[in-house]
Amino acid sequence: MNILEVSTTPFTDQKPGTSGLRKAVKVFQQPHYLENFVQSIFDSLEGCQGQTLALGGDGRYYNRKAIQIILKMAAANGFSRIKVGHRGILSTPATSCIIRQYKTLGGIILSASHNPGGVDGDFGVKYNTGNGGPAPEKVTEAIYARSKTIDRYKILDAPDIDLDTLGESRLGEMTVEVIDSVQDYQKLMESLFDFDRIRQFLTSGKRICIDSMHAVTGPYARAIFEQSLGAPQGTVVNGTPLEDFGGGHPDPNLVYAHDLVEILFGDNAPDFGAASDGDGDRNMILGKHFFVTPSDSLAVLTANAKLVPGYASGLAGVARSMPTSQAADRVAAKLGIDCYETPTGWKFFGNLLDAGKATLCGEESFGTGSNHIREKDGLWAVLFWLNILAVRQQSVEHIVREHWQTYGRNYYSRHDYEGVDSDRANTLMEKLRSVAPTLKGKRYGQYEVEYGDDFSYTDPIDGSISSKQGVRIGFVDGSRIVFRLSGTGTQGATLRVYFESYEGDSSKQDLEVQQALAEPIAIAQEVAQIREHTEMSKPTVIT
Ligand code: G6P
Ligand code: ZN
Repeated sequence: MNILEVSTTPFTDQKPGTSGLRKAVKVFQQPHYLENFVQSIFDSLEGCQGQTLALGGDGRYYNRKAIQIILKMAAANGFSRIKVGHRGILSTPATSCIIRQYKTLGGIILSASHNPGGVDGDFGVKYNTGNGGPAPEKVTEAIYARSKTIDRYKILDAPDIDLDTLGESRLGEMTVEVIDSVQDYQKLMESLFDFDRIRQFLTSGKRICIDSMHAVTGPYARAIFEQSLGAPQGTVVNGTPLEDFGGGHPDPNLVYAHDLVEILFGDNAPDFGAASDGDGDRNMILGKHFFVTPSDSLAVLTANAKLVPGYASGLAGVARSMPTSQAADRVAAKLGIDCYETPTGWKFFGNLLDAGKATLCGEESFGTGSNHIREKDGLWAVLFWLNILAVRQQSVEHIVREHWQTYGRNYYSRHDYEGVDSDRANTLMEKLRSVAPTLKGKRYGQYEVEYGDDFSYTDPIDGSISSKQGVRIGFVDGSRIVFRLSGTGTQGATLRVYFESYEGDSSKQDLEVQQALAEPIAIAQEVAQIREHTEMSKPTVIT
C-alpha cells in the first residue's frame, strides 16, 4: 500500500485549549485541517515507530470520518497497532482506562465534550499521554508550535477499515484492533465498587434514571446498570449515541439536562437520577426532588469513601479546582488528609494523582474522578453514589443534609455570561485584575474583603507555574467570588462568575441558593460592572 506525502500549509488557529483542539465541524472539514493537526501530534511525540495508540470518540458527527483519516495517518507514520473503539465509540474515561491498561503510548479522543454536535456543531481532537491523562502544556505547546510550521503529512492510500466488526485487521504494516468499547472499563468499575450490593439495592424496589443525553455513555450505562446491575430496561434514557445528540446540548446541568430534572422533581420521582455529557466524563447527580452541586458531591464522596471497596483503605488526599467550593476542604481537614487547590482543568490533577498525593478530585464544572484513571469519570461518580446509597440505605437528600449538619453548608452557584464579545470580556478581566488587590479591608454590608488576587498555581510536583487562572475576591468569613473566562467555548467569550458562602448554622442551611448568595452577587456586579461590560442584563446560564 502506498504511503502518500501530502504537502500542506499551516493553519494559524490550531492551539489546543483546556481540552484539546475544539472547533466547529466546518473548520475541521477544511481540506488538510484535521490532517495537519494529527501530523503535528505525531511529530511532537518521541517516536511513533512500533507504538500502540488508543483511538475513539463520542460518536458525534465527523467521528467516523476522522477515525478513518487518523488510522491511515497512524499507519503511514509507523504505528504498529491501534486499539479503536467499536463503531468508533470510546468515552473519554474508557480511553484513559485503555491507555493505562494496555500501556499504549497514548490515545486520541475525538470529542468536543459537552458542546453541541451535528453538521453545524463542534468537533474536537485531544491527545492523551501514556498515563491516560490529557497532554500537559509542554506537549500541547509543542503540538501548536509544530502546527505553525508544518509543510507535509503522511497518509496511507487505502480503503476504509470496517469499524462495525470486532477484531483485528491490517492497514499496511499496522494492526487495527476494533475493541469492545465497554468491557475493559466495566471491569475496572467492578474492581472498585460493590456490584453485588448495588445490584441488591437496584433490585429491591429502588428506582433510578440515567440520562445519557444521546451521547457516548448510552452503551456503557446500559451494559452496567441494566445488564449487569439488574436495573429494569428503560432505566437508561436517551441511550443511543446520535451524531447530533438528538439536537440537544449534552451538558449535564440543571439547564441542559432539564428533562431529567423534570423527572426527578416531578410526581412519582425515582430515588436517584444522573446525567452524563457528550464524552462521558461529566456527571450531574440528583436525588428525589434534590440537586447535588458538584462541589458538594466531591465533599460527600470524600466523607463516605470508606464505604466503597476501592477506597476503603483511605484517601491519600483530595484535590479540587480553585473555583470549586471549599466544602471538600472541610472534610479533608476532619479526615486529616491534604486538600489541593488547582487551576481549572482536569490536567492539573495529573501530577498529584501520579505522585500519589490525591485520590479523589473534583471540579464545579460537573467533573469528579479518582486515581483509577487520569480523566474525570461520569459513570464512576454515579456508581460511587449508588454504592454509598446501597450501604447507607438513606436518600440522597438525607445524606447531603446530614453532611451539611456535620461540616456546614457551602452555598454555591455559578453564573455564566455566554457569547460575550471577546474584547469586552478581556477588558472586564483586565480591570478586575488591577482592582482586586486594592479591595483588601473594604466592607460591603456584612462582608469584609480579606484578599483579592489573580490565582497563580505552582505545581507541587514539577514546580511549574500557571498564572492568571482567575480573579478571586475572598471575604473574612470564607465566602468567595471568582471570575474567569471559559477556556472551552468556541463562540466569543464566556464569563463565569462563581459564588460561595459558608453557613455553619444548621437552622440556616435551607435557604434558596440565589437568595442565600444575593449579597455576593450584588458585590460582584458592583466590583466588576458585569452588566455594563457584557451588555447583558442577566446571566445566560445559572447552575
Ligand atoms: C473541561 C475540562 C474541565 C474543566 C472545564 C472548564 O471540561 O475537562 O477540567 O473544568 O473544561 O471549562 P471552562 O469552560 O470553565 O474553561
Ligand atoms: Zn466532557
